[in-house]
Amino acid sequence: PSTPYLRVTPSMLKKQSGRRGKDAWMALNGKVYNVTPYAKFHPGGVPELMRGAARDGTRLFGEVHPWVNYETMLSSCLVGLLVEEPEGGS
Ligand code: HEM
Repeated sequence: PSTPYLRVTPSMLKKQSGRRGKDAWMALNGKVYNVTPYAKFHPGGVPELMRGAARDGTRLFGEVHPWVNYETMLSSCLVGLLVEEPEGGS
C-alpha cells in the first residue's frame, strides 16, 4: 500500500516554527518531518535543533552531524514531501 504523502510548500513549512502553538517541522533531503516529539531527546538541545525548524535544514544538519540516521529516528514523524511553491500564488 502506498503512503499518501502530504505535499508541503516552503510557505507551509515557514509557518511550522514550533511557536504559536504549532509543531516544528523541518525539511531534510526532500522530506518534511515534525521534529516536536523528538525535541526533548535531541542530544544537542532544543535551541540547536530549532535552528533547522520551519525551513530546509539539510545543509545545516549535514554540517553538524552527517553520520546521524535521522530517517530511522524520525520515521514516525514524517509529515510529507517538500514541493515547490505553485506558480501564480493562491
Ligand atoms: C547532536 C545540532 C538536527 C540528532 C547534536 C549536536 C549539535 C546538534 C550541536 C552536538 C551536541 C553535543 O555533542 O554536545 C543540530 C542542529 C540541527 C540538528 C543545528 C538542525 C538541523 C538533528 C536532527 C536529529 C538530530 C533532526 C535527529 C532526528 C542528533 C544526535 C546527536 C546530535 C543523534 C548526537 C550525535 C553524536 O553524538 O554522534 N546536534 N542538530 N539532530 N543530534 Fe542534532
